[in-house]
Amino acid sequence: MIKNILQSAPFLFLILTTSCDQKVPEVQESTKEFNEPHRPQYHFTPAANWMNDPNGMVYLDGEYHLFYQYYPDSTVWGPMHWGHAISTDLVHWEHLPVAIEPDSLGYIFSGSAVIDHENTSGLGTKENPAMVAIYTYHDPVGEKEKRMDFQTQGIAFSTDKGRTWTKYAGNPVLKNPGIKDFRDPKVSWIKGEDGSGKWVMALAVLDRISFYSSPNLLDWTLESDFNPDWAAYGGVWECPDLFQLKAADGTEKWVLFVSINPGGPNGGSATQYFIGDFDGKNFSAEHEDVKWLDYGADNYAGVTWSNVPEQDGRRLFIGWMSNWDYAQVVPTHPWRSATTLPRSLELVKVGDGYQVASRPVAELQALRKSTKEISGESVNLEEELIELELTPTVGNDFEMELSNEKGEKLILKKSGDGLVFDRTASGLVDFEARFAKVHTAPLNGLEVKSLRIFVDRSSVEIFVNDGEMVMSELVFPTEAYTKLDLKGFERENNIHYLKSIW
Ligand code: FRU
Repeated sequence: MIKNILQSAPFLFLILTTSCDQKVPEVQESTKEFNEPHRPQYHFTPAANWMNDPNGMVYLDGEYHLFYQYYPDSTVWGPMHWGHAISTDLVHWEHLPVAIEPDSLGYIFSGSAVIDHENTSGLGTKENPAMVAIYTYHDPVGEKEKRMDFQTQGIAFSTDKGRTWTKYAGNPVLKNPGIKDFRDPKVSWIKGEDGSGKWVMALAVLDRISFYSSPNLLDWTLESDFNPDWAAYGGVWECPDLFQLKAADGTEKWVLFVSINPGGPNGGSATQYFIGDFDGKNFSAEHEDVKWLDYGADNYAGVTWSNVPEQDGRRLFIGWMSNWDYAQVVPTHPWRSATTLPRSLELVKVGDGYQVASRPVAELQALRKSTKEISGESVNLEEELIELELTPTVGNDFEMELSNEKGEKLILKKSGDGLVFDRTASGLVDFEARFAKVHTAPLNGLEVKSLRIFVDRSSVEIFVNDGEMVMSELVFPTEAYTKLDLKGFERENNIHYLKSIW
């Protein structure tokens, strides 16, 4: 793990070196404990510098790969690379060298990765199938010249479990038809009813999702566009995902995720989703209301892992825990951005329709080191990394406050038919005018029966009723929150103190 590498190095400033000439982050001495102010202790962060979207999430031979939009030279967005980390349990992460670097075709924007088991591309073998990354090339020269075709799709492949990558010589594999926003390919292998299969790419094209298909990952044919007039169009469509999801009663539906920026329910970036059917060419939604994956301000561009073993059966998700409204100015150093907790997605029936629930993966329970019952309305926290399990009193409004001795506090409350998260006095808030806001999630009659809340220094993730509604939110207290106040809850609630993963 990176921490171990760093601990053995005696320098004040050092450069992490790797076996090849890949760009690697400069890491300061202060980074070696992963313990700077606001540094998440059980969420993935790059050691140093800028990160945005998770990319190319794929499982292979016991390893969950997490690639991510990364700029290794600065703490603000710049020429994009794919950073890389792996985990065997979705909880502990090992940082690996940058996987894919920009080239003459452009920066490496968001995309996905698959395992080409049948060797349809010819880039690996059936015995050792290639891991294939499909990403967007963003050509900064074309952009500067104000051309419309500067985003294209390219591929790179690895035959050594994602450790080294080769760009495909025939890139780009999908040229731009003259639409400025043409990006973020999410590719999956889709089986037909006759058992045959093909690759399907969901691509964000300005204000629609275009579906392409391919027999071999190299040649792509446009199949259809999806852009119903009732969807959310407050900003550009980005980072789609298309997959099947099962409900507990066995019902199976197709789900399409579309991140949009701006235009989220609480400002800036957010992810809307559609539930319906995909017939191999067209997606059709079975509802006409806008559905949001997360009502907090800080869960964007999230997508799901491919190639998760069938015996596992879960649809595993991770998002970028930030918002383009302020991501580049949040008060963290020498890194910027974390991922959300990994979540397992489930289809749940709510009223007459279906909805996507997000649940923290069960593996996270390994973080618990002690559990205390909270029996009063107020409790002093023993430590700062916590998971709360709270039971609101049926039918009541409730309020939870976390505060520190400096008077910094965050409030979560049910008020009428809304769940309200107030971070206006939560700590450092004035680095961007759009940060210090009160966020509301409409409950639409949903009864809040349980709350599970994870606090990790600079984030709060709130799961209502086992993930039926979620709010993911950043906060930057200048000291840890040390006091918890509860009103409107049952008498017994639980607090788990959690371990750091570093
Ligand atoms: C989403 C996004 C993607 C793009 C990437 C660039 O946050 O804008 O559409 O590929 O970030 O870093």
